[in-house]
Amino acid sequence: MSASTAATPIGIHDLELATSHHAVDLGDLAHSNGTDPAKYRQGLGQDEFSFPAPDEDIITMGAAAALPIIERHGFDGIRTLLFATESGVDQSKAAGVSVQRLLGLPNHVRVVEFKQACYGGTAALQAAVGIVSRSPGERVLVISSDVARYLLDSPGEPTQGAGAVAMLIAANPALVEIEAAAGLFTDDVDDFWRPNDSTTAVVDGKLSVSAYLDALEGSWNDLQAQGGPGIDEIDRILYHQPFTKMAKKAQGHLAAVTGAPLSLALPGDAVDETQRDTGLATGTLYNRRLGNSYTASVFAGLAALLHHDADLAGRRIGLFSYGSGSVSEFLTGIVQAGYFDATAAERVYAALDARAPLAVEAYRELHSANLPSSEDYETPRVTAGPFRFAGVKGQARQYERTRD
Ligand code: HMG
Repeated sequence: MSASTAATPIGIHDLELATSHHAVDLGDLAHSNGTDPAKYRQGLGQDEFSFPAPDEDIITMGAAAALPIIERHGFDGIRTLLFATESGVDQSKAAGVSVQRLLGLPNHVRVVEFKQACYGGTAALQAAVGIVSRSPGERVLVISSDVARYLLDSPGEPTQGAGAVAMLIAANPALVEIEAAAGLFTDDVDDFWRPNDSTTAVVDGKLSVSAYLDALEGSWNDLQAQGGPGIDEIDRILYHQPFTKMAKKAQGHLAAVTGAPLSLALPGDAVDETQRDTGLATGTLYNRRLGNSYTASVFAGLAALLHHDADLAGRRIGLFSYGSGSVSEFLTGIVQAGYFDATAAERVYAALDARAPLAVEAYRELHSANLPSSEDYETPRVTAGPFRFAGVKGQARQYERTRD
């Protein structure tokens, strides 16, 4: 490898978030099932969750997230599309193949799907960095898209959600350079999984929380063993957020492991001025309203931080990615000069505000409507997004663009 290639910074050049047509208010859910709304709002740190319309899924959300990136940068240099999801719609065909057509990407691309629970998006990001390291003229489109579904009336129900984050990975990135050292931790644990014949996840909630914290400590220790930056050299820290209170638990655990006085305040909490603000509260602003978006969750946290904090140029961000089962990674990146887009947060809030509220009864009906893939059907036209899932024909899923 030449010295100049080795020195080329590689990372996130652009990033966009998309979500579903509907939202369920957790106050309404609490009211319907006799729970104190404070359990959801303060106990879990969630206000709402996104819920897809019948003509939406991971493909329509993923394509919607990627569309503005393609509109801004064109197809130039894109020869790979990596689609990460744990709510895949087919056992064989990669979801990204449908996205390739919907976006009008050239045929000369490699497309593949990544799966390892919520960690899949980070795996795709690292694979993309590897591809661009080898061929710095190429760009990789990485899409993380998921619909988080648990059984109705289960403890996991208020932690559902839906969303997608698309990222363009390139040399000399405009947003965040990904650094080489990363902390890794894999541990075979049955905390959360989704069997092939189930549309909802199976979860041992308490075990999943402790497995997440063990994995955080394991990845952090490995980052240190790999010569990565110490806690005092990391300015902001983001965590995978199945519910935003989990990020607070993680921050508390990392503070205990490192001895660093990291702020534990989420939005609305009292701030302790003796503790260091690492962007915990800022990184939860979108996820409080999206719910769990599995593979997209930590990158929705990154979007929230980059969109709200205008003082990040040259600063180092730590990202902890956890995927049940489990695989996790603690990676770091340096925010690039000129990254701040003052209009980006407005766009995301407009999308969140535009979601159509779903009454609990209607949500429960939609949640229970699982149409078989063996029969042909057409979906009702509901989504206001740029792409829709039109139904099943000859057992194959059909997708269309709703506007030019
Ligand atoms: P639960 O049993 O319903 O809740 O399950 P709880 O009784 O533990 O209460 C939750 C919190 O609310 C507690 O706070 C209570 O004190 C508080 P904590 O002790 O945790 O700080 N609380 C209240 N607060 C204010 N006012 C009240 C009130 N009542 C209670 N009145 C659980 C919670 C998270 C286990 C459940 O929702 C669940 O199973 N969720 C799904 C699994 C999950 O999200 N696990 C997280 C770690 S694993 C992960 O992140 C991976 C994942 O994204 C999947 C993947 O990787 O693919 C899930």
